[in-house]
Amino acid sequence: MITCEGLTKTFGSITAIQDFTLEIPDGCIFGLLGPNGSGKTTTMRMLSCLIQPTSGKALIDSYDIHDKTDAQKIRGMIGLLPEVPGLYETLGAYKNLDFYGQFYGVPKQKRDESIKRTLTNLGLWDRRNEPVGGFSKGMKQKIAIARALTHDPKYIFLDEPTASLDPAAAKLVREYILELKKRGNTILINTHNLSEAERICDTVALLKNKIVKVGHPKELARGLFARTISITLQKIPSSLLPEISSLRYISEAQVNGNQLILRIRNPEENNPQVITWLIQKGLQVQFVSEEEYSLEDVYLKLIEEEGQ
Ligand SMILES: Nc1ncnc2c1ncn2[C@@H]1O[C@H](COP(=O)(O)OP(=O)(O)OP(=O)(O)O)[C@@H](O)[C@H]1O
Ligand SMILES: [Mg+2]
Repeated sequence: MITCEGLTKTFGSITAIQDFTLEIPDGCIFGLLGPNGSGKTTTMRMLSCLIQPTSGKALIDSYDIHDKTDAQKIRGMIGLLPEVPGLYETLGAYKNLDFYGQFYGVPKQKRDESIKRTLTNLGLWDRRNEPVGGFSKGMKQKIAIARALTHDPKYIFLDEPTASLDPAAAKLVREYILELKKRGNTILINTHNLSEAERICDTVALLKNKIVKVGHPKELARGLFARTISITLQKIPSSLLPEISSLRYISEAQVNGNQLILRIRNPEENNPQVITWLIQKGLQVQFVSEEEYSLEDVYLKLIEEEGQ
């Protein structure tokens, strides 16, 4: 488990992140979201013991990021995909990973197994001996992801893992991340791809140099938007809109083609009343559905409220 309390980092007069307090339970995929410069990379770097916090505490399991001996242990427990891959361009893909594995003291046989598995899964086994300097941006990204996994870390920190990947490769990496979760890893991921976060993250934290909101991607919308119901009728008479707008439990009504869009106070209680009312008017109800708000809707609303 990762436990952070009041984690703060300033660079001169700039506060990159302030009072970052939360727990990341084992075995989950946790997403950090937020605009450029909102403190995602800084937070990840602090938790990886690459930079020291200005103030606050963080424990990775029971190891303290402030303690020099613990920091050594923490680095071995974490596999980090940094924002910039930083590979040895003249070395082959295999050698890059092997070098890194040796650095972390992974025994030869384990190294070979792990490198073969990840390069095969990421579709680069056949190109393992080519210098990575000649690889495309996405291929380098895949090698950097493989590198983060070479020493079989419990915690995997991925800073924008799919940023430079084509749609098929991004899907492959997402599936791989879900597979790592199944194997018991804990994954912290920074991303601007909100539909990706919605699909794979158990919890997301929205940052704006502090935590704006934390929650399950689907639950964040609750309480943030009035609930909206769409009712498709075979035909909508022109007299319907003013009549339905006057019902006490409808706060707003619109007509779009043969769809009625209603903001309803308590859909569980009021939907049956509306449907009965419509049927009593002799109207034919074809479909009823609740509008779902995406993580993008939530993100844009919260960031706007924070004064972006
Ligand atoms: N080494 C540094 N020296 C000075 N300022 C820094 C340093 N690292 C980060 N910052 C500042 O801290 C703030 C947060 O940066 P950070 O890289 O954490 O943002 P981010 O959320 O990862 O952004 P992005 O989405 O663009 O990657 C920015 O204002 C940045 O300029
Ligand atoms: Mg960043």
